[in-house]
Amino acid sequence: MMPAAVPATFSPTELAAEAGRLLRVLLHVDCEPGRQWNYESCRRIAPLTLEINRLKREQDAVILTHSYVEPEIIYGVGDFKGDSYFLSQKARDSQAKKIVFAGVVFMAETAKILSPQATVVVPDRGSGCSLADSITGEGVRRLKALYPDAVVVCYINSTAEVKAESDVCVTSGNVYDIVAKLPERRILFVPDRLMADNVRVELKRRGVDKEIVSSDGTCIVHDQFDPAFIAEARTRFPGLKVVAHPECTAETAAAADFVGSTGAMMKYVKNTPAPYFLMLTECGLVGRLQAEAPEKNFIGGCRLCPYMKLNSLEKLHQAMVAPRPDQIVTLDEDLRRRAARSIERMFELTPKN
Ligand code: 13P
Ligand code: SF4
Repeated sequence: MMPAAVPATFSPTELAAEAGRLLRVLLHVDCEPGRQWNYESCRRIAPLTLEINRLKREQDAVILTHSYVEPEIIYGVGDFKGDSYFLSQKARDSQAKKIVFAGVVFMAETAKILSPQATVVVPDRGSGCSLADSITGEGVRRLKALYPDAVVVCYINSTAEVKAESDVCVTSGNVYDIVAKLPERRILFVPDRLMADNVRVELKRRGVDKEIVSSDGTCIVHDQFDPAFIAEARTRFPGLKVVAHPECTAETAAAADFVGSTGAMMKYVKNTPAPYFLMLTECGLVGRLQAEAPEKNFIGGCRLCPYMKLNSLEKLHQAMVAPRPDQIVTLDEDLRRRAARSIERMFELTPKN
């Protein structure tokens, strides 16, 4: 938490009210390992959250926040918070002139694909993703030449170029249902090799016959978790529930009690009585649960995504006041249209519930 870098244009009463608002929501959240938010730390960021919220109104902007970014962004200035699917829906439906995406670059690109009329801003152009950065459009074209009869399914953690080469896009929340529904038997799945393994296991369990070929990307956060750690945690914390993301290895997923998107993981924890939870995902999700389900207990074990953690209130503020060219997402219109087709197909094939 850095001190706010904006001129003090708010009255002491406004600042105290903002600090109180922030504290009510952040009270149970760790602001640094082992240290929780207090009135002073909330008061320090209050000028910045007030100013960003003022800029949103002035600029007709919305801020979309993925659950992995810092909680002061999610609860301080975010308009919508959630997983990739939910945020894509919000970007598609947005009427705002500007979308500021607190997440990673592929998410901001997806927002631009779905909301081309809006100015889409990303606070840090370096916020990549080991999955999205693992394959290019050219790489997909090479694989397509090897498997010409395959339907190309891209995980949303991919570049606009890769989406433009794909038949359908999926997220962690709809991947099993969409792949199961596709008429083609052979699937070329990019870029997540571990998610492809999890899809194979799940479709076999459902009795769906598919051949899945994948490229070789992995998430540098989720590929770290392993079943030995889960086994040890279970012996030390009886009654522990283990919650994993489908970017984990199939062995880790098999050892967990629940596997799902970050949105589904949150629902599971909120609805499941257990003395302790182990979250095999990025620590931001634990922060969200500490804010929204403070009665739950979490044991350590989550990991940090270095890309998501490049977001900050200061960068959001700067990107709204005077965005550099690299902070504004632009896409070639033909590429954007082709990428939009794969995402629109995803919306059509996602079960409504
Ligand atoms: P979700 O769509 O489940 O939030 O996943 C996004 C992501 O990047 C997970 O690492
Ligand atoms: Fe990419 Fe993994 Fe970070 Fe998600 S957690 S943005 S998949 S590197």
